[in-house]
Amino acid sequence: MLDRDYEFIRELVYNHSRINLGPDKKELVSARLGKRLRETNKTSIGEYCRFLQANEGSEELSHLIDAISTNHTYFFREPSHFDFLTNKVIPEMVQRRAKERWNSFNVWSAACSTGEEPYSIAIALANSLSTVQPPWPFRIEATDISHRVLQKARVGVYKEEGLQKVPQPLLRTCFQKGFGPQDGFYRVKNTLQEAVTFRQMNLLEGVPPFNDRFQVIFCRNVMIYFDRPTQEELVRKLARHLIPGGYLMVGHSESLSGINHGLQLVSSAIYRNPT
Ligand SMILES: C[S@@+](CC[C@H](N)C(=O)[O-])C[C@H]1O[C@@H](n2cnc3c(N)ncnc32)[C@H](O)[C@@H]1O
Repeated sequence: MLDRDYEFIRELVYNHSRINLGPDKKELVSARLGKRLRETNKTSIGEYCRFLQANEGSEELSHLIDAISTNHTYFFREPSHFDFLTNKVIPEMVQRRAKERWNSFNVWSAACSTGEEPYSIAIALANSLSTVQPPWPFRIEATDISHRVLQKARVGVYKEEGLQKVPQPLLRTCFQKGFGPQDGFYRVKNTLQEAVTFRQMNLLEGVPPFNDRFQVIFCRNVMIYFDRPTQEELVRKLARHLIPGGYLMVGHSESLSGINHGLQLVSSAIYRNPT
């Protein structure tokens, strides 16, 4: 891949998604573009870059971002967040609920990828809120920049391998096991799927497609691709969507130290909006 083609791709990806590809990612980008070249019938990366430059290539931009970004995820990733949600956040919010008159427990899974994160949240909430009286419904907004991952998320069918961290009893109550040609696959039950709304959204552009304030926001393993000013802009934006006393969970490799955000660090990779 020529340096000037790499620079062109780097700048385009940064301008559209703020994913910051370092000079060390050239090999990786080149490998990931292979599939796009085949699907667009281009014979070289240079020809593919010219296609992107032309108007007809504008739709290709979202396929390019899809190919470049890492969508890796699995159920109950970083389990300490789910322990904190179950043992600390939910009891605290249940206590505050009557006084605050909240109709539902609202969570935003920002950069949700193929859905494992928001469905894990739905499972944890369904399990913990099942005994709360009067019943308290929950709602999860799940957003991602990539149309492709959202399509998979909406289907809600997963291979057994990605479900290893789901506790056995919950695997039985929250999923339908596939048989015959569906052997080895599990489908998230409808009641849980109905609690999650998937929407396309670039976290760094405009405003979210909802006005809500959330008890909890999960924004994990996406900031790692952004530079410091972009991280700061994003955390400030997320903080505006937290209720006073609401929590932000970030990936354990995404320290917010040195970022001016106004949130309090309460546990590893967990921040709280002051009340
Ligand atoms: C590694 S996955 C993280 C999934 C999940 N949050 C987790 O921790 O397992 C990163 C996701 O961020 C999404 N993403 C990258 N840039 C984005 C942006 N600017 N706005 C919204 N989503 C973005 C990618 O499409 C990808 O699905």
